[in-house]
Amino acid sequence: MSIPANLPLRNDLKGEEPYGAPQLDVPVCLNVNENPYPPAPDVVDTIAQRVREIAPTLNRYPDREHIALRKAFSDYLAKESGTRLAVEQLWGANGSNEIMLQLFQAFGGPGRKALSFTPTYSMYPEYARDTFTEWVTVPRNDDFTIDMDAAIEAIRTVKPAMVLVTSPNNPTGTPLPMDQTKALLAACEQADVDGADEGVHPILVVDEAYVEFRTPGVPSAVSLVNEHPNLAVSRTMSKAFAYAGARVGYIAANQGIIDSMRIVRMPYHLSAVTQAAALAALEHTDEQLSTVAHLRETREATAEWLASLTYKGRNLTVAHSESNFVYFGTFDDRDFIFNELLKRGVLIRDVGHEGWLRVCMGTDEEMAAFRKAFLEVLDEAQKA
Ligand SMILES: Cc1ncc(COP(=O)(O)O)c(C=O)c1O
Repeated sequence: MSIPANLPLRNDLKGEEPYGAPQLDVPVCLNVNENPYPPAPDVVDTIAQRVREIAPTLNRYPDREHIALRKAFSDYLAKESGTRLAVEQLWGANGSNEIMLQLFQAFGGPGRKALSFTPTYSMYPEYARDTFTEWVTVPRNDDFTIDMDAAIEAIRTVKPAMVLVTSPNNPTGTPLPMDQTKALLAACEQADVDGADEGVHPILVVDEAYVEFRTPGVPSAVSLVNEHPNLAVSRTMSKAFAYAGARVGYIAANQGIIDSMRIVRMPYHLSAVTQAAALAALEHTDEQLSTVAHLRETREATAEWLASLTYKGRNLTVAHSESNFVYFGTFDDRDFIFNELLKRGVLIRDVGHEGWLRVCMGTDEEMAAFRKAFLEVLDEAQKA
C-alpha cells in the first residue's frame, strides 16, 4: 500500500487495507471456496459462441435491466428451489458482493444499522463501512448456530434496517434451519427501524452463496420470497455453479426491494459480455452443477477424517458444514499449521478466528495432497 499523506482519502479509511484472500501461485489452492472443476469443453464452446454473437454490438450499451438473464435466473431457481419468481423479483450484479453493496446502499447509510451473527462473512463490515452504516453483531453459539433468543432480542432493541444471515454460513458451514429463518422473519416483521418512519420494518437478507451444497431436499429461503415482502435471498454463480471468474451474483426478493436496488445501481452495471457469458453457462446448468454431489461427498469424508485426528492429545473439532468447505480446530498456533501447509504447496484459509482454520474442497488429487501435507504438519506441531 502506498497512499501519500497529502491525498484527501476519507479519514475513516486511513490505515485500511484492501480486502482479499492471498492470491498465491501454489500447486493446491483451497482458500477461496471455488468449485475446483473447470467448465467442460462443450460449455466453453457455448460461452465463446455466445460472446462472439454479441461482440458486433459492443459499440452499444448493454440491456440495463438484463431481462433475458433475469428470466434465466427465474428458470434456474424454479428448478433448483421449486419456486417460480417473476422477472421483477430477480436482479443480477457483478457477483453477490455487488448485490450486497447495492442492498447496503439502498437500505443502510448514516443513522441506519445492519445486524449480523459472528463469525460470518468478513466482507459484510466493509459494505457497512463503505456506506456509513453502523455494524452490529451478536455472537453465535459455540457450535456456530445462531443464538435465537439473543438474535430476536437484538432485532427488537437494535432496530436495524437490515438483518444479515448467511446460510450455509461462511466460514463455519452452518446452515440456518427453515424454522429459524421464519422466526427471524417474524421478528423483523414486528420490529422498528432506527432512523426510519413509523411502520417501517427491517429486511432479512439471507445470503445463500453456498446453498447448492446443502443436503438434497432441504428447502431454500427462496421458497419464502413470495409470502414475505421483507425477505431478500442472495445467490451467486461463483460457488457450486463453478463460475467465479465470470462475476455473476443475483438476488430473489419482492419487487419493492429490487426496485430500491435499481435506484442505487450504476447505469449498465452488468456488461453485455457478462450477460452473454452468464446466459451461456445457464444453458448448461446440469453440467455446471454435475460436480456438486461429489464435492458434498468430499466434504463429508474430509470432515470425518479431520475429526478422527488428534492434536496435542485432543481430538480436532470440526464444525458441521453444509457447504463446500470445512472449518476445523482448535490449534494453539494456527499460524504454524497454516504456514507449514503453505511450505508444502497447500494454501488454506485463516479467517482470523482464534484457533480455527478453513479448508475448501478441491479435486480428489488436491484433497490427497492436503491430507498428506496436513498429517506431516500435525506431526511437526505435536513435536513443537
Ligand atoms: C457468504 C458469501 N457471500 C458472498 C460472497 C461473494 O461471492 P461473489 O461475489 O463471488 O458472488 C462470498 C464469497 O466468498 C461468500 O462467502
